[in-house]
Amino acid sequence: MSDKVNNRSEWFYPPEDLVRSAYVQDYEAAYARAQADPEGFWAEQARELDWFEPWQQVVDGSNAPFYRWFVGAKTNIAHNALDRHVKTWRKNKIAMIWEGEPGDVRTFSYYRMWQEVNRFANILKSMGVKKGDTVTIYMGRVPEMVWAMLACAKIGAIHSVVYGGFSDQALTDRIEDAQSRVVVTCDGAWLRGSIVPLKDTVDEAVRRCPIVEHIIVVRRTGNEVYMEPGRDYWYHDLRGLPIAATQCPTEVMDSEDPLFILYTSGTTGKPKGVLHTHGGYQVYTSTTLKWVFDINDEDRWWCAADPGWITGHSYIVYGPLLLGATSFMYEGAPAHPYPNRWWKMIEHYGITILYTAPTAIRGLMRFGSAWPNRHDLSSLRLLGSVGEPINPEAWKWYHTIIGKSRCPIMDTWWQTETGGFMITPLPSTPLKPGSATRPFPGIEVDVVDEEGNSVPPGTDGMLVIKKPWPSMLRTIYGDPNRYVEQYWSKYRKQGWYLAGDSARKDEDGYIWIIGRIDDVLKVSGYRLGTAEVESGLVSHPAVAEAAVIGIPDEVKGNAIHAYCILRAGVTDDGHLEATLKDHVRHEVGPIAVPARIEFVASLPKTRSGKIMRRVLKARAMGMPEGDISTLEE
Ligand code: WT7
Repeated sequence: MSDKVNNRSEWFYPPEDLVRSAYVQDYEAAYARAQADPEGFWAEQARELDWFEPWQQVVDGSNAPFYRWFVGAKTNIAHNALDRHVKTWRKNKIAMIWEGEPGDVRTFSYYRMWQEVNRFANILKSMGVKKGDTVTIYMGRVPEMVWAMLACAKIGAIHSVVYGGFSDQALTDRIEDAQSRVVVTCDGAWLRGSIVPLKDTVDEAVRRCPIVEHIIVVRRTGNEVYMEPGRDYWYHDLRGLPIAATQCPTEVMDSEDPLFILYTSGTTGKPKGVLHTHGGYQVYTSTTLKWVFDINDEDRWWCAADPGWITGHSYIVYGPLLLGATSFMYEGAPAHPYPNRWWKMIEHYGITILYTAPTAIRGLMRFGSAWPNRHDLSSLRLLGSVGEPINPEAWKWYHTIIGKSRCPIMDTWWQTETGGFMITPLPSTPLKPGSATRPFPGIEVDVVDEEGNSVPPGTDGMLVIKKPWPSMLRTIYGDPNRYVEQYWSKYRKQGWYLAGDSARKDEDGYIWIIGRIDDVLKVSGYRLGTAEVESGLVSHPAVAEAAVIGIPDEVKGNAIHAYCILRAGVTDDGHLEATLKDHVRHEVGPIAVPARIEFVASLPKTRSGKIMRRVLKARAMGMPEGDISTLEE
């Protein structure tokens, strides 16, 4: 680890023409300008968007950490993402090109997109959805998912997107927490040529949620699904009704009105509903996307994430539309039917900017360079990475084989909670492979010790954010104490946000993210709490206790290893590992299934009974166990 993190010998300089044409060419000047007058800086960015009524104050910290941004302003992110574009030449511009896994293609102009969103908004209204209500969205990567999200925004409803890889139990928990009366789903989703039966999962989940009154089902895969009369409606049927008109007024929202909830993992088993709002979020996502990826009208932007995660919310759905950009979206698996699928699409659509995760790069790298080398990738001018630190091997492959040593890689560090890129290069920034480089203008970060002292270069410390920013999470939905406790209590005195990552700075002020300091794992870029997997395991009658750790994995970043103590009288019949994996798949979802489950007689614990995952990990990796003075065993 330290070797990689300390590798400062290599610099990569961006091509001169790219720097010359970049939207922001002088990072230092931009950073200094924002530092000197943060409120003026954010107000300047906010003025790029429409507001129905102006703000009286840029940021209000009187009730910190419950900050408010663009106080008193009236707006709606859907107005800025769609309504305002259809009054300009952009009406005819392509908003989105979509390719399905089977190879079908759909293309939407801004005008068409606006109409579809209006229709969807009217359908939601006809089901009684009002301003402030929540709608849960559980879908595959199809255009209707984007419309559903924007339709909620348009009428002032709060969307809660649950990633399609979560189980029915996880979906139940999220529907209940958000108290959604309406759920939007698909019959199924395509994945590697087979159908993931999403509607069945929703039926299972909703059986436990009496609050759900209606389910809107988009037909995608054509598999047979159960439709409960009076509760379930086909989207295409509703869309054909007069209620689904192509005009729908946009609700006037307060800048601080909620836009969405997105559940993410923390240190306890209960997922946290991270809340974002209309005003600050639209300013921050549009500014960061424009500055970091330098998006112009000529570009074809591809953020290869799922709209069900924050990356997709901010940089598939909202950011690109706010900028009036053209996006590409792909439904299925990267290597389906062959490992050249992505490279073929880049060539075919002339993608200019690709933004993806290290795990995807490592996965595709495994198939060798011959697959990308068969394709003309010369349209690419910028690349991006997100989700975990990118290892030097993957960086080099991405840079030379995909970017032909021309395209700088924007390694963007951020979180569900931050709403947008926080530590990131701009196209003009000299790069060091594996470092997310420097904070975005207006963002102040540091690496500090337990007491909050800045640590010297080369020393590990805690990553903190020292000043509020427009797209910061506003709270944990329904749990303001957890919001304060989780993010603001460690450095309460200083008023800093605790990111939950360890990091170090180097002599050039570049930041190197090391990893999570809490019990959160990154598996294939997904964020999972060890507690979520553990509670999945112990919910099985055979398991008395469980502990879960992440073991470095070449493709996934981390692989989940679980240790289980069986209940008295239970013995492994040889099938128990497989049974428990199935159980976790059902309880939490496929992304949480451990790669290995080991049955043990005891677990290393502190005297206070806390499982020492650090010790388990050291043992598993044959490394020194470190300080075990608190070990009870
Ligand atoms: C955690 C947040 C934000 C989009 C996807 C992840 C890790 C994220 C990087 C990066 C090193 C990164 C951190 C962070 N992370 N980007 N470029 N380099 N680590 O969002 O699921 O909320 O996870 O992902 O550990 O805390 P998320």
